[in-house]
Amino acid sequence: MKYFNDNDFLGDCCILQSFLEEMRFYSGSERLRVLKHSNNSGNIGSMLYGYTWKGYLSPTKKRTAAPWKGLFETKCMDLYPEFGEVAREFADLYFPTFKWCNLQLNKNFPIPPHFDSTNVGTSIIIGLGDYRGGKLFVDFAEDGGIREFDIRGEMVKFDGSKYRHWVSDIEGDRYSVVFFNNSVIEKKMTAYNSVSASGVNNADAVP
Ligand SMILES: [Fe+2]
Repeated sequence: MKYFNDNDFLGDCCILQSFLEEMRFYSGSERLRVLKHSNNSGNIGSMLYGYTWKGYLSPTKKRTAAPWKGLFETKCMDLYPEFGEVAREFADLYFPTFKWCNLQLNKNFPIPPHFDSTNVGTSIIIGLGDYRGGKLFVDFAEDGGIREFDIRGEMVKFDGSKYRHWVSDIEGDRYSVVFFNNSVIEKKMTAYNSVSASGVNNADAVP
């Protein structure tokens, strides 16, 4: 145990939150497509943490190569390399059997109704921070209709690629961390079966 206390979920949530509070948030281009906004305050954003097969941040800026051939580290992972290890320890404590390779880190990011992209299936989401509102709504359609979740200090697992979901208005500072898998990344990791030095994932954890 390096970062967390174990057996104290809410205390460990505060520790996880303290790492997020140190970050300056921005929105990746793929998130800006979901919601167009421009805000450089560092106080709002949605950042992909982990791996991508896109080798370039811009036409002239190459990403850092990951230990797996054909994969690269996202900008957020490059900026905050320790967080991968922090998130891995948290996940291993509280949902050790759930397979994930990437994280979406959100701060005060308004999320209108959407489906996650097709290669992202079941996710685990947790809300952190001192806020009101910011409820997660999931439309399970014929599987149960619209349900509302207060994810503050709670873990909720659902398939965002299957069920439309959104977040209500937020008062205060709301962080959310989404743990999810990506079939393309999983296949690349399995194919090369290397071990990540970053600690955010290793091929042994991805069948
Ligand atoms: Fe989503």
